[in-house]
Amino acid sequence: MPATPEPQTPDDQIDAFRADVLAGLAAAIPAVPARWLYDRTGSELFDAITRLPTYYPTRTETALLETVMPEIAARVPKGLAVVEFGAGSATKTPILLEAVAPSAYVPVDISGDYLEDSAAALDKDFHALKVIPVVADFARPFALPEAIAGTQKLGFFPGSTIGNFVPRTATDLLRHFRELLGTGALLLIGMDRAKPVERLLAAYDDPQGVTARFNLNLLERINRELDGTIPLDAFRHEARWNDILSRIEMHLVALRDVEFTVAGQPFAFREGASIHSENSHKYERRGARLLLLAGGWTPLAEWSDPADDFALVLAEAQPNRSAP
Ligand code: AVJ
Repeated sequence: MPATPEPQTPDDQIDAFRADVLAGLAAAIPAVPARWLYDRTGSELFDAITRLPTYYPTRTETALLETVMPEIAARVPKGLAVVEFGAGSATKTPILLEAVAPSAYVPVDISGDYLEDSAAALDKDFHALKVIPVVADFARPFALPEAIAGTQKLGFFPGSTIGNFVPRTATDLLRHFRELLGTGALLLIGMDRAKPVERLLAAYDDPQGVTARFNLNLLERINRELDGTIPLDAFRHEARWNDILSRIEMHLVALRDVEFTVAGQPFAFREGASIHSENSHKYERRGARLLLLAGGWTPLAEWSDPADDFALVLAEAQPNRSAP
């Protein structure tokens, strides 16, 4: 990744969205990066997903955080700066902030208004805490606020968001976090475990159809923001388990032959062809730790719920050294 932060204005965002969609739809295996699922509607639909009976990750991770937080707090010095990648979750973030008593909290998120809302709510509950939101795509280079330059950092990356990235990109991202957070940094990361396919499919294709709406919102967003003409009734949501790559995939599958334009560019999809819109990688114990190690983080401790559905790993930034 380039070292200089790039400006990330709304104009840059729409340019990046257009470039990703035009390239993605024209690719041999059509795909759109998952981060574009999360506009305001998408974030609200994802919120609704987290409350679905079949979507276990959020409630499992939240309960786990509550249970093991005393053990986590015992391993984390007070007064450090918590940097959360993704907008703070109203339920998970306070559990951490209360136990760890940081001097500053820096939520980093691409969606400015969502970020302002959650930051304002925390400001009210934690008076002594400096809350410094940063509007940025955390997967691209950006700078941390000057105010926390000399403070030890704790990165917080809950929700199994790391699972959205293919391992190669996940490794790049972890290394980027390592550089950003600096020497002596800690990282608390949530990772979802592999489990029986029926449970995974129920979590990503719920009977209420909320995940389907979440996925189809991507097409609505393309139509709205990129002047698209995609007929929404020509696509359906599909969740697939890819066993060899250990991931759930979300696809938008064409129900018939269909033609449309996006930003003036023509596209044609055959019945049964798909647009791949998200990956959610699932990790076994050792695989989870190996990913962290490859990304420059040494696991210190690991916790999971009694059913081992979901894991939290605390890791420390590897020092730069050459051997062994
Ligand atoms: C936001 C990455 C945690 O992969 O479980 C939920 C996104 N997609 N249902 C996940 C998602 C469909 C979610 N994360």
